[in-house]
Amino acid sequence: MHLRMNLSLAQEVEAGLKSTLPFISPKFFYDDIGSRLFEVITLLEEYYPTRVEKSIMQAHAKDIASAVGSCEVLVDLGAGNCAKAAALFESLQPKQYCALDISKDFLEGAVADLQKRFPQIEMQARACDLSQPLHLPDLEGKKKTFFYPGSSIGNFDPRQARAFFDNIAVLCGGAGGLLIGVDLVKDSAILDRAYNDALGVTAAFNLNALLHINRVLVSNFVVSDWEHHAIFNETESRIEMYLRALRDVELVWPTGVLQFKAGTLIHTENSYKYTKASFTQMLLDAGFKKTTTWTDDKGYFLVCYASAA
Ligand code: AVJ
Repeated sequence: MHLRMNLSLAQEVEAGLKSTLPFISPKFFYDDIGSRLFEVITLLEEYYPTRVEKSIMQAHAKDIASAVGSCEVLVDLGAGNCAKAAALFESLQPKQYCALDISKDFLEGAVADLQKRFPQIEMQARACDLSQPLHLPDLEGKKKTFFYPGSSIGNFDPRQARAFFDNIAVLCGGAGGLLIGVDLVKDSAILDRAYNDALGVTAAFNLNALLHINRVLVSNFVVSDWEHHAIFNETESRIEMYLRALRDVELVWPTGVLQFKAGTLIHTENSYKYTKASFTQMLLDAGFKKTTTWTDDKGYFLVCYASAA
């Protein structure tokens, strides 16, 4: 089972790298080092989303709790270090906390720590890939509050985001809803800075995907052959991140070989930015009945509760 999973993962990576516009899925950012680098990104002055989202959640904690109502199970989609969900425990008072993340080891550590601080809440950690449809048979019949903070939704293109919302709305089954944070369209200079920080942490985060790929594929990427490149594509309303080859690179792995000419871009991430109107419309189109939104004074970030009832 374990072997087969790694094999299909390797095949997935191989197909991406061989494609006309080579790409690596952003899920490969989040190995042990990458999850920690992302935590550091959230501390950077340039990277406003995490900080602004937190300030919105704090400033409107009571209103958010009253929009959400009673919370039987808090389902954290992409929990990471679980800090954001933990900050909601006091106001939402969930009976059960179900934490999902792509990085299982990192998540298990975080949930174990959290369980000590909140012994009264029943907790679970589950590995899951949110680019695949989500099934939660054991939570059927329970009122669920899905939590998807941090503009993780920005990694999906709008079509995928809509399919994801359709999936969540069905899982809600006419009760509960989705509490979600999304980054808003803004001056491109601010976006550029957020993805090109002076310390180079975002660059390290991006380049680290190559080391993760080396383990999956048993390949020979050399980090110093590549550089970080991030730009805001205004037409598509998204930050695009790439790794650019600084010289000709020959990638070798047990079952293949691939040449990358100097200057070749490997796409690693899209981070879509929405307007409040486009975002809430998409949630309503997916079948949610009502949205309530909160933002900061500068309008940098949006927190939204989409009710399924
Ligand atoms: C975790 C997807 C929300 O898009 O801002 C941060 C990831 N990439 N810096 C984002 C990320 C580069 C982040 N998300």
